[in-house]
Amino acid sequence: MAKGKVKVGIIGSRFEADIHAESFKILPDEAEVVAIASPTPGNAAAMAKRHGIPRVFTDYREMLKEPDIEMITITAPNRLHAQMTIDIANAGKHVVCEKPLCVTLEEADEMIDVCNRKGVLLNYAEELFFTPKYVKAKEMADQGAFGRVHYVKQAEKHFGPHSDWFWDPQEAGGGAFADLGCHGIAFVWWFLGRPGIKSVYAQMNTQVHGDRTEGDDETHCIIEFDNGAIGIVENSWATRGGMHDTIEVRGSHGLTSADLHRGNALPTYSENGFAYAVEKAPSTKGWTYPVFDELYNYGFPQEMQHFARAVRGKEAPICTGEVGRVVQEVLYAGYASAALGQKIHLPFRPKGITSPISLWKNADLARRALGK
Ligand SMILES: NC(=O)c1ccc[n+]([C@@H]2O[C@H](COP(=O)([O-])OP(=O)(O)OC[C@H]3O[C@@H](n4cnc5c(N)ncnc54)[C@H](O)[C@@H]3O)[C@@H](O)[C@H]2O)c1
Repeated sequence: MAKGKVKVGIIGSRFEADIHAESFKILPDEAEVVAIASPTPGNAAAMAKRHGIPRVFTDYREMLKEPDIEMITITAPNRLHAQMTIDIANAGKHVVCEKPLCVTLEEADEMIDVCNRKGVLLNYAEELFFTPKYVKAKEMADQGAFGRVHYVKQAEKHFGPHSDWFWDPQEAGGGAFADLGCHGIAFVWWFLGRPGIKSVYAQMNTQVHGDRTEGDDETHCIIEFDNGAIGIVENSWATRGGMHDTIEVRGSHGLTSADLHRGNALPTYSENGFAYAVEKAPSTKGWTYPVFDELYNYGFPQEMQHFARAVRGKEAPICTGEVGRVVQEVLYAGYASAALGQKIHLPFRPKGITSPISLWKNADLARRALGK
């Protein structure tokens, strides 16, 4: 096994690519970013300059030919995750794939299968597994602080994403539920110790952004687990005031809750405004909640450090393609449930679905998927 820092290449050069590059710099001991590939030459070069990344490519396939690069992170639109993962694995390199893992369940299967065959790791980038405040809540739960935990909720809400492709449900695989619900689904399942999932029920609407998208911008999802516990996943692209990311945990002997951003923030009032408060905040004037150490509080640097350590065999991988596949199945079930107004029992793995949201947009398809 190779030694020293894991050499990393990043695909993409915008929002999440910046977070990956910055995260590797915040915790620099295990890995270093040596290359970036993005089709927009200006963007890629600017990002390389900003982060001191020496090699720049416009075609990621060219980056895959670099023999010293061991791990590639994918921060491209969802529809591209599967092909990129397959190409990376075939080049013999480890993968870090952003959420959601992909768009279809067939893609998830193929991604996992190819990585297994090629002997490379498929790391699924769910940073909530590394968010310090949420990890603390899980540690307390695992120590028995709350007795038998029967309720876990994760909510993630803002007023909608920054890039156009998110708003095209076929490109993204869905709306707010696919984009943000993937975090909550993975979180509640992981928090409860990865129990079997019995059923999924969801209500979805397009409340505010009907002029911009056919996707859901407001979703509520209830997940019923084999052990009787309930997971609640609440998502919105129709919530003003910047990013909201919260959890609630209830058990027979206690409870806890956390507000990822505001709990770490400085309650601030400013007539004049200032440079930056928090992700997706539209303004810094009036009352705001500016965060500090934003990426660290999210867990991104810890996540990337873990993936690099997993590549070196120093830690067992805790967030792999299998997590992403569970999420994908719940996304399918949630969209089908919202279409039909009924609980969907798992396993639910209909074949030939081109995107999870098509099950919501086409109730006949959802019925057929249920074998009706
Ligand atoms: N973990 C999180 O909290 C989180 C947050 C934001 C985004 N994401 C995920 O990260 C991914 C990227 O989202 P984003 O917000 O950075 O989007 P973005 O629109 O800001 O950036 C997308 C990037 O992909 C690049 N790209 C497009 N086509 C490409 C191709 N063929 N080859 C190589 N690069 C290509 C674009 O040039 C751009 O740099 C998505 O899957 C998204 O869901 C995760």
